[in-house]
Amino acid sequence: MNLMSIPISELLYSFPELEVTLEKYTRSLHSVKSLNLHQFFSTLDTQLSTCKSEIKQVFTDVFYSRYKELPIEQKIHLIVSQFHSQHRELLPVIINNAREVEYKYAEHPACPIGLSRILSDFSDDLCGHMDQEEHFLFPPLLARGEEGLFPIIAVTHHSHDRHMHVMADIEELTNDLVAPEGIGAPWVTLYEQLNELFLQLYIHILLENTLLFDE
Ligand SMILES: [Fe+2]
Ligand SMILES: [Fe+2]
Repeated sequence: MNLMSIPISELLYSFPELEVTLEKYTRSLHSVKSLNLHQFFSTLDTQLSTCKSEIKQVFTDVFYSRYKELPIEQKIHLIVSQFHSQHRELLPVIINNAREVEYKYAEHPACPIGLSRILSDFSDDLCGHMDQEEHFLFPPLLARGEEGLFPIIAVTHHSHDRHMHVMADIEELTNDLVAPEGIGAPWVTLYEQLNELFLQLYIHILLENTLLFDE
């Protein structure tokens, strides 16, 4: 699943709910339909962070409304197949790219020094968390609902809060994931991949909190 890199025209076909939000940030929706969300965000200035937050929320609400009536086994299957697998695939690539950017642009004043290390720790934490969910949380949840699972659900909520904090810290380190103007491909690509990962991780966390534990 790719939400940030496909043209807005295609995105609106799958997520028509985005139209109202996008219209708030452009004079002509038609003129931005050939852009993807990365390119659209680069047209915004002071409105960027508000727009990003709203888009995240719209996606989350859409996924929630699509998943909420499904049986729990399908919810879990979709979370694992759409979100866990995407994070596992993307994280090693992003860490390598972060290493390259830190090496290549070490002298640049906006270089996100230390990012690859933070991402590497984050990857270990997030992958460990997803393994735990798949082995120790989802199977009993499928078997008998939330009964007796309070301690592990509490730990899961705690991990989700921690992951939200790490994403916020990384956004602070990276100028809200906006690469310097005119900078080379590795840096731009790195921030695009991080924007995609963070959007999907945000949706993933909110879906688990609301669909699996708050029912
Ligand atoms: Fe998960
Ligand atoms: Fe989780």
